[in-house]
Amino acid sequence: MSADGIAQVFREKFGYEPEIVGVAPGRVNLIGEHTDYNDGFVFPAAIDRGLWIAAAITNKETKSYSVQLGDGQPFVAGKVEPGFTDNWVKYPAGMSWAISKSADQELPNLKVAIDSTIPIGSGVSSSAALEMAFGVVWSHAGRLALDNRELARLGQVCENQFVGVNSGIMDQMASAMGRKDHAMILDTRSKEIDYVAMPPGLSIVLCDTKKERELANSAYNERRTQCEMAAQLLGVKKLRDADQGMLEARKYKLTEVAYRRARHVISENARCLGFRSALANRDLELIGILMRESHQSLRYDFEVSCDELDAMAASAWAAPGCVGARMMGGGFGGACIAVVQTEKLDAFIESTLNLYKLASGLNGEAMTCRIVDGARLLVA
Ligand code: GLA
Repeated sequence: MSADGIAQVFREKFGYEPEIVGVAPGRVNLIGEHTDYNDGFVFPAAIDRGLWIAAAITNKETKSYSVQLGDGQPFVAGKVEPGFTDNWVKYPAGMSWAISKSADQELPNLKVAIDSTIPIGSGVSSSAALEMAFGVVWSHAGRLALDNRELARLGQVCENQFVGVNSGIMDQMASAMGRKDHAMILDTRSKEIDYVAMPPGLSIVLCDTKKERELANSAYNERRTQCEMAAQLLGVKKLRDADQGMLEARKYKLTEVAYRRARHVISENARCLGFRSALANRDLELIGILMRESHQSLRYDFEVSCDELDAMAASAWAAPGCVGARMMGGGFGGACIAVVQTEKLDAFIESTLNLYKLASGLNGEAMTCRIVDGARLLVA
């Protein structure tokens, strides 16, 4: 896809030229799962599966058209309330609500065409990309000059308060702040980012289980509540502030479930920091250990895996060229992420998908990802 391609979609749909064209990428996360809403560390990267957007200001309502999802309900920018719709257009509507509330300013209405190469439901944040794409366009169209960090914050406000998912800030930050060929370790408390170059000779492969994510939002919100309760019982502001010693010393205060949830977050934060050195030192063995431990911790302590994700991770571990693999994202379906030796890429993919098919009966799908820059305007 290209700037010309999405401009053409706009022309065909609305019959005239767009004024603004932009793109926002999806993301992977190397390690650091379910840590972002605990003020912890995450290690995402923006990928070359993106959402393209072309827009023009209109004096009528905001009308959005997606090649994949069709026409969205029209709405007046900034004049929508949470609960407005269940349709995909809740993300653009929510962004207009979050931006205009924060800027205390009316936003122009837009005609918008969208085309995307980000798979939906695979856990690579197509919704955060949608939010960031509308964010860069609205910031420009409304002459607000919001930077990408601020757009990421507003994207989280949109998710939490408009869409009703209590997500952390990882997905929006990755889509907004990604840097070509670098993964980013993000301290979700200070919002500080450290960009780490991906070592040569390693590839990132997403291994999609093709299992739809079921009841994922309610389970996600439940995990977040459990983490907050665990932090309270441990006497800390967030689980970021707890460590293994404190957890063991105050174990008697926690339910068994709260203890395991906290143990995941505490150990995952440590793994995320360990991963930074492992990557910098090209320590392939340690990368593999940390990713496997992350998967097991998400499976047994945090309980957000499922049979298909377990089967995919095990298939990847057994395949040639696998450096490390684990379930990725919120869980309950979606994809595993694998770090693979580039020279063995083809053999890795073939073997992983064959083993997965034997174990699950499902046809999984593999996608090799390149790391790209975050959301930006291409024509304005
Ligand atoms: C989803 C959320 C993120 C993060 C991950 C789990 O992708 O949107 O904020 O919590 O799950 O790490």
